[in-house]
Amino acid sequence: MSKASRLPGFHKAKIAERLRRLADAVECDAEDLAGLAESASLPLANADAMIENAVGVLGLPVGIGLNFIIDGEELVVPMAVEEPSVVAAVSLAAKLARAGGGFFTSSDEPMMIGQVQITQLPDPQRAREAVLQAKEQILNQANALHPQMKARGGGARDLELRLIEVPEDVEGIRYQTQLILHLLVDTQDAMGANLVNTMCEGVAPLCEKLTGGKVRLRILSNLADHRLARARVQIPLEALADFGLSGEEVARGISDASRFADADPYRACTHNKGVMNGVDAVAIATGNDWRAIEAGAHAWAARSGTYQPLSRWWIAEGALHGAIELPLQVGTVGGAVKANPLVPVLLKLLGNPSARTLAGVLASVGLAQNLAALRALGTVGIQRGHMALHARNLAVTAGARGGAVDEVARRLVAGGEIKLHRAQEIVATLGRDWIAA
Ligand code: MEV
Repeated sequence: MSKASRLPGFHKAKIAERLRRLADAVECDAEDLAGLAESASLPLANADAMIENAVGVLGLPVGIGLNFIIDGEELVVPMAVEEPSVVAAVSLAAKLARAGGGFFTSSDEPMMIGQVQITQLPDPQRAREAVLQAKEQILNQANALHPQMKARGGGARDLELRLIEVPEDVEGIRYQTQLILHLLVDTQDAMGANLVNTMCEGVAPLCEKLTGGKVRLRILSNLADHRLARARVQIPLEALADFGLSGEEVARGISDASRFADADPYRACTHNKGVMNGVDAVAIATGNDWRAIEAGAHAWAARSGTYQPLSRWWIAEGALHGAIELPLQVGTVGGAVKANPLVPVLLKLLGNPSARTLAGVLASVGLAQNLAALRALGTVGIQRGHMALHARNLAVTAGARGGAVDEVARRLVAGGEIKLHRAQEIVATLGRDWIAA
């Protein structure tokens, strides 16, 4: 955890100064963070070992979400993301949340689901009974494949059995009853994909013997609904006053936006995209499989049959309340975390959390990101802030550096024409002193 997550003026400081302040905030040696400033943060040799046919490394900015208090602890949050507004917006929302004590989280045990699909059953009901009877044998066999996980207190814990009707042809004319075995595996601080898949493959022959059926797929489910994380926040209305509007008006804009998402899947989808802007950025920075998280989040959002928002906002007792719940299959140990040498450094900024703690951080960041978006959308609109950040991007592309970036961006916004050619014209008029600044 950090000594402080409020670092005033952080965005105006040069990168070396930011790293010094960050090291101070998380109480670690500045050398520990030195690698962060290297542009080639993933050595080519690592990239080559990570994937097939590697030809290079694609950089992404890593920024720090500031101002977070999560479960009473100050926390600086590393985020890897290309979208200009994300880190600024989340830091602003986290600052607002401080007025209510920050974010409060809870997360389930890290229980993943492994699926074994048993087909061509002579008698589906009897097959179900037979597997249920052999529950201990199946669990023991699964755990024998990963004794270290069992020794650490994790491993295969339980079974769920589902008989489902599966079409035998693409027209859906004939159906077959299949037995779907869910192996519930406590993966401790790992995301657990490899472990779960190995266990599913390992128990498949026994499942065939017990049922007389034929096993097809043996793979985890990314709908990790035994592994939910939650965050909530409560902000006094007066703390939300801005844009010349009262706190109550701003909160009304946010809660109306939330009701719109409740009622309309087209809006819920974009609402959730805003949530995932934050969740994914932290997932990437911590070496996690963000596609798994995305797939799980959207399947969860559609669980009622209608696609729903992952978070909700409402006004009660003089405060704006927000809450989020989503499956978060994240790990803080394991191959993917170690493969990129920067990831352990970024996890250190978070206080080397357990997987469950990290899930709570992701849920909080998702909720904060959503708050920032709805606060702008429900009041003055999103473009004002976005264009200011876009102007900074154009300034850098046009050659501005240091203090000149803000100056060029300021003149672009003031002129109303936020285009690259305008940025180049402004840079050309600034003179050497500015550009060298
Ligand atoms: C843009 O990346 C995210 C937003 O569209 C989210 C939202 O509409 O809530 C601003």
